[in-house]
Amino acid sequence: MPISDHQLIEAWKEVLTLSRLEAGQTVTVLTSAATHPQTLACALIATQSMGAIVNRLDLPPVNGDKAFSRDSLAYLGTTPLTGNRAAIAALKASDLVLDLMTLLFSPEQHDILKSGTKILLAVEPPEVLARLVPTLEDRTRVLAATKKIGAAREMRVSSPAGTALVCPLGEFGPTAEYGFVDEPGRWDHWPSGFALTFPDDRTAHGTIVIDRGDILLPQKRYVNEPIVLTVEGGYATKIEGGVDAALLRDYMETFRDPEGYAISHIGWGLQPRARWSTLGLYDREATIGMDARAFEGNFLFSLGPNNEGGGSRTTTCHIDIPLRGCTVKLDDETVVRDGRVVA
Ligand SMILES: [Fe+2]
Repeated sequence: MPISDHQLIEAWKEVLTLSRLEAGQTVTVLTSAATHPQTLACALIATQSMGAIVNRLDLPPVNGDKAFSRDSLAYLGTTPLTGNRAAIAALKASDLVLDLMTLLFSPEQHDILKSGTKILLAVEPPEVLARLVPTLEDRTRVLAATKKIGAAREMRVSSPAGTALVCPLGEFGPTAEYGFVDEPGRWDHWPSGFALTFPDDRTAHGTIVIDRGDILLPQKRYVNEPIVLTVEGGYATKIEGGVDAALLRDYMETFRDPEGYAISHIGWGLQPRARWSTLGLYDREATIGMDARAFEGNFLFSLGPNNEGGGSRTTTCHIDIPLRGCTVKLDDETVVRDGRVVA
């Protein structure tokens, strides 16, 4: 259901205030062919009304001829910033970049953040943004979880469906996604609400069962019959099951890249306002599925790169998979029990 410009401008102002935007700071709104016009228009008004110096940088899309999905997170190749020194200079010279394009998993993003520029990604449809405006409580909850991850040496995940996964930790630090950027050089994604890290390279092992009702992204589908992943030495070495498993195997084969099968980020959802059921209400073209990634108590794991966490693995393949009903343990402490976050 649509929202009014007034509602979205107020939502932007809330997020920009949490992000400590001050009058006189420079904001660059990064856009491309898929940018939602209402999100853009309201971002321009909100930033100007708060006294910022506002630019818009519109870049032509890339990768459309290579990707099999229209989802902006499905194919992680070069970005419109690759080799684009003028655009990178403009973003580095900004205090805040509002990424309405999707720059995630690119070396250019790291380069810009290192200069102290903050980047806030916002590509979900306007009504999802307005429903999931972040709060300070979100930040507190997510930071408490990342602190636990940062101190842990191992994550173990189990489920009644048969998941039994072991992920040694410590090589890569934790990442907190709470939906706003309140520190220089911080990246975040509105909406979100989860804590994650990456397993030590080539060490994750065990079995992951993607059960009925669990979600595949970017497929944006609820699985109808279990898919069993065998995980050895940090990679999914077998993908078994019925039609859903065959569809996943076929999609992943299109990338022709063994690195796409690596276990990527692992963590759990901490956003009580995000819902497991939302994805079923949306056209696949209309959302990237942040409700599915963030709903409270899901175990979210991913296949693909680890460069976003500080590793060296890059691959164009990236699949996010939230599982319900899991128990997640950090060393001896249970942080999620049967799909519910332990307070
Ligand atoms: Fe992911």
